[in-house]
Formats: sequence, structure tokens, C-alpha cells
Amino acid sequence: MIRVLGIETSCDETAASVVGLREGAAPEILSNVVLSQIEEHAAFGGVVPEIAARAHVEALDGIIEAALADSDISLAEIDAIAATAGPGLVGGLIVGLMTAKAIAAATGKPLIAVNHLEGHALTARLTDGLDFPYLLLLVSGGHTQIVLVRGVGDYQRWATTIDDALGEAFDKTAKMLGLPYPGGPNVEKTAANGDAKRFAFPRPMKGEARPDFSFSGLKTAVRQAATAIAPLSEQDVADICASFQAAVSDALGDRVRRSLVRFREEYPDVKTPALVVAGGVAANREIRSTLETLCAGHGFSFIAPPHVLCTDNAAMIAWAGIERIRAGLVEPGAMDFVPRSRW
Ligand code: KG4
Ligand code: ZN
Repeated sequence: MIRVLGIETSCDETAASVVGLREGAAPEILSNVVLSQIEEHAAFGGVVPEIAARAHVEALDGIIEAALADSDISLAEIDAIAATAGPGLVGGLIVGLMTAKAIAAATGKPLIAVNHLEGHALTARLTDGLDFPYLLLLVSGGHTQIVLVRGVGDYQRWATTIDDALGEAFDKTAKMLGLPYPGGPNVEKTAANGDAKRFAFPRPMKGEARPDFSFSGLKTAVRQAATAIAPLSEQDVADICASFQAAVSDALGDRVRRSLVRFREEYPDVKTPALVVAGGVAANREIRSTLETLCAGHGFSFIAPPHVLCTDNAAMIAWAGIERIRAGLVEPGAMDFVPRSRW
């Protein structure tokens, strides 16, 4: 059995997890502890890097102890330590990677420096045992990408945002409308009482041949609509949220469609290809149902790992460590690895 301790500190979650794999069996998440800093940042309407770094310093040792205790595995029984080494906020990355290096040095176990996006990319193999190749749609506060996942360490980015990340668009829209942080869940909740047809917001890039995303024009359109009818009633806010969400789902579906078609062309032999979603925005029900319908129409299976594994967590980092060990991709120089905020 391989057992890896994972550590994740790249944004505003302090997380540690132990994942085990017995050859021939399904992987097991032996523990998965996530401490969210949402409350520390809420008053500022977004993640404040200095506050995040300090909160990671204060919490991480206890979170690691809790992850080990929950797993009933002692540090001595761990085979390797995997830590997010980028991309992300550099203060948090330093805290996580230095702690992992210290544990590795003290125990003599190997250290694996994991790219956070690789963690998201491989989660569907932890939860669903998915085979390569497949497509990943990552929609979070910091990323909006479609990635072709060909193998461990073998990724090709097919599409990215040319301006805002999708989660960022939700958060900024919420802020403009006076809804609390984090914006995404509040926009979704408010949209439920709104009229999605009241405002004809743009569908950025819809119909364009290049596969990329854009959301900043939509944000501007929301601001103009809100300014034009201010002061906003509760119903106005709900209608804007619903119309925004409809525009986002529609634009996203159009953009993702291009990559599904491309996958079909490049991999005609894959009988049932899969689209995996990850990132906080994947929790949005309207976006999910748009993607589900799109996938069904193109013969793709739609895979959405459980919410706790879609958003930032350390189980995905521990699992990426296991995948790297099995693929023989553990680099010897990890102890010298410097965190890369833009990796
Ligand atoms: O993956 P995540 O937890 O953290 C990172 O950004 O790495 O994603 C957080 C983002 C935030 O922008 C949040 O507003 C958005 O995901 N989000 C949502 C929903 N839940 C979270 N956006 C739309 N609808 C939701 N239900
Ligand atoms: Zn993430």
C-alpha cells in the first residue's frame, strides 16, 4: 500500500489529507481536512494575501495533525509527502512547501512538489477511476481553462480566459450588487427568484472559432444595467443575477462545445469520452445542467466529483503524489524546489 500525506495552501484553504492506494484496489481517502478562511476574508470582499499567509502559518500544523489522526496512520507509515508548490499566492505556498520540506527532512521520506492544477486534473481518477485521455474544465476563482489530460504530467491547455476567471466574474458581479463574499453561491441563490430574460447580457465570444473564454465584457454590461436602474430593488438584483447566470451558462456552453468537437476529431477511437469539471463554480446548478445537456448531446459522459473534491483540498494533492510515484515521475530535486506562484 502506498500512503501519501498531501498539503494544500495555495489560496484560502489550509488543507491536509492522507490518501492510500493498494495495487488493484480503488484508492482510499483516509482523511481529508480542510479549513476555509472565508470568514477572515469576507470583510474585505476577497482574499487578502497577507491575511491568508498568516492564517496558514497558524493553522497548518494542527490541520496536518488532524489529518494524520483521522487517518489512523502515523507519520512513520507515510511513504511520501506531497505539497502544492504553485501556482497560487506565494505566501501560502511558502508555508505549505516549507512545512512539507521540514517533515521530509525530519523523517527521511521523499517530498513531491505538486502543481495545484495537476491536482484538479487528476481528481477524477481518484473518484471515478477515469482512464486517459479526457477533458477537464476547471472553473474556479483563479482559473478558467479547458485542459486535455493525456497522462500524468502530460497536459495540453486547449482554452483559457483572456480576461477574468469565471469565479471572479461571479464574485465581482456579487460585489457590484451588494451581495456578500464569496459571490458565486450568493448570486446563484439570488438568481433563483429572478427573471433571466429581463436583461439581454452579452454572450462573450459566442460563435467565435478560437476556443477561449472572456467574461469582463459581461461584468461591464452588468455594471451598466445596474447603474441605469439604480437604486436597485430586491427584485432588480434577483433579475440581474438570473440574467447574468443565464448569459454565463450560455457563453460557457458555447465555448466548451468547441473543445468537445475537437476531442472527437483528435480521438475518434475513444468510445465514450469524458468531460470532468473542477473548481468552485462547478457547484453552480445551472452551469452543471447546461454542461450535462451539452455532454449528452455530444456523447460525452459528464463527471463532476463531489463538491469537497472539486474545490481546493489536499486529497487531490496527495493523490497527484501517488500518481507521480506510480508513473516514476518523482523528481529528486524537490527539496530545492522554490514555490512558483505563476507555475
Ligand atoms: O475552487 P474554489 O473553491 O477556489 C479557488 O478559486 O481556487 O473556487 C471559488 C470560486 C469563487 O469565485 C466562488 O464565487 C465560486 O467559486 N463559486 C461559485 C459557486 N460556488 C462557488 N460560483 C457560482 N456558483 C456557485 N454556486
Ligand atoms: Zn483550485
